Amino acid sequence: MSRHLITSALPYINGVKHLGNLVGSMLPADVYARHMRLRGHEVLFICATDEHGTPAELAAAAAGLSVADYCAEQHEIQADLSRRFGLSFDHFGRSSSPQNAELTGHFAEQLRANGMVDERVTDQVYSLDDERFLPDRYIIGTCPHCGYERANGDQCENCARLLEPSDLINPRSAVSGSTRLEVRATRHLFIRQSLMADRIREWIDSHTDWPILVTSIARNWLNVGLEDRSITRDLKWGIPVGWPGFEGKVFYVWFDAPIEYIGATKEWADLDPETRDYRSWWFNATDVRYTQFLGKDNIPFHTINFPITIMGSVEPWKLVDYIKGFNYLTYYGGKFSTSQQRGVFMDAAIELLPADYWRYALLASAPESDDTEFTWESFALTVNKDLAGIFGNFVQRTLKLTEKLFGMTVPDGGEPGPEEAELAASLDGALATYAAEMDAMRFRPAAFALRSLWTLGNQYLDRCAPWHEKDMARVACILRTAINVARIEAIVSAPFVPFGCDRLAATLGLDDGERSWPGPASDELRRLGPGRSIQAGDPLFPRIGDRSTLTAWVAEMEQRFGGPS
Ligand code: MF3
Ligand code: ZN
Repeated sequence: MSRHLITSALPYINGVKHLGNLVGSMLPADVYARHMRLRGHEVLFICATDEHGTPAELAAAAAGLSVADYCAEQHEIQADLSRRFGLSFDHFGRSSSPQNAELTGHFAEQLRANGMVDERVTDQVYSLDDERFLPDRYIIGTCPHCGYERANGDQCENCARLLEPSDLINPRSAVSGSTRLEVRATRHLFIRQSLMADRIREWIDSHTDWPILVTSIARNWLNVGLEDRSITRDLKWGIPVGWPGFEGKVFYVWFDAPIEYIGATKEWADLDPETRDYRSWWFNATDVRYTQFLGKDNIPFHTINFPITIMGSVEPWKLVDYIKGFNYLTYYGGKFSTSQQRGVFMDAAIELLPADYWRYALLASAPESDDTEFTWESFALTVNKDLAGIFGNFVQRTLKLTEKLFGMTVPDGGEPGPEEAELAASLDGALATYAAEMDAMRFRPAAFALRSLWTLGNQYLDRCAPWHEKDMARVACILRTAINVARIEAIVSAPFVPFGCDRLAATLGLDDGERSWPGPASDELRRLGPGRSIQAGDPLFPRIGDRSTLTAWVAEMEQRFGGPS
């Protein structure tokens, strides 16, 4: 048994996340956390909402709330959705917590003490009517290159050229539209990243097992050269810097957000200080293996910026051991977009269909080696073929026939023979393959291996055809064996489809002690012995539509959420 710290990238607070966010970090992190717990490891699975920054301020203003109230409300919404999707965080924290403020202050102090931060005065745009400094992308104006009238101060989204706010023609505030802007000098803290470039490169090179996606993006950034980066902002909302000369300034959201991985762990520990110690997970924690899950846009922050904060502290805080990065899930090849109402967000998804359907189908085509496209048709086919057609169907056939012939008990009679030996051997192989893929966090192959394992149950029933068998002792043995296959499936499928597996476990009357990872299949197939009572259950995973209405269902979904463009 070993200790595993697992984090998912922290979802930003400004609204419900879409399926791409879900499958790009939180969901695979959950599947891995559940798998590691199932294998008997000690797991701490941490996530939180990322609550600072200008987008939170603007979303709050648009909602007519104070930022604090807005964040509190949105945090609850995201926490509730996480529960409904079965995301088994040990703690779902908030980057606006006092714990994070304290740790963020501590890291800044350490960096300063170690000569890693400089103070610099820079020129920034100030909006007289908004009474605030404006970040570059909240200054809008006409693009000098293409004439587009809503170009941002950092980039024109029409011609994609990078801009400086001073390039814009007729600049105005994106917050209020005011044109009363002026340039003011302001003092900021800069982290001297270039001092750490060699160490970061060595550290990345030492992780030869990391996905290419992760190391190649990190190396590209290093090759371009690390610039010193400002870690403070002229905003009201955020963690106050609190140093003389920095009144009214807060830390930059990307400085404090990753520190919240530690902060949230401390939030968790503070809920039960007698039994929990956050430092045992983070400080001198050489016995802990730390794995991060994140989308590819987050890779630079996790391979370069945050490690610089950690290394620059010159304290033995834990560095990540393995980074699982993901490409993007697209919606019919395009972006999920709140403003254009394209794509499926977590709240609508969970109203529509059970969490297990999303969990399995999304991971079965997780964007691991490339961007992947979500379409309603392939989603429905995956659910109907694999969940309903293979796993659900096997369980249903087994239980129905048992009920009809023996009542709701595990049937007595017969002894396992060559068919059962063959089944046991293939189950052992399938379990080993599945476990290996899960250990390696290869979720698409893992889903494929799980489906192959499910198929073994169906094939066994088809081969033995208990419905044609005349010898009732033999029928009893077949169905008893099949019930035990269902038990194995209920255990090992739980990381993907936890809700269905809980229902199946209840149907089979399993207690917690009977739900640990299976040993050799020849033993496991005898676990639920004759006479044990079982319950009849509804189908585990009812199919979406039937064959004749599926096309209409797909059309309806495309109508509602957007379709091929
Ligand atoms: N909120 C960021 C995003 O949505 C991710 C933050 S991850 C952390 O892209 F490292 F900052 F915590
Ligand atoms: Zn332009």
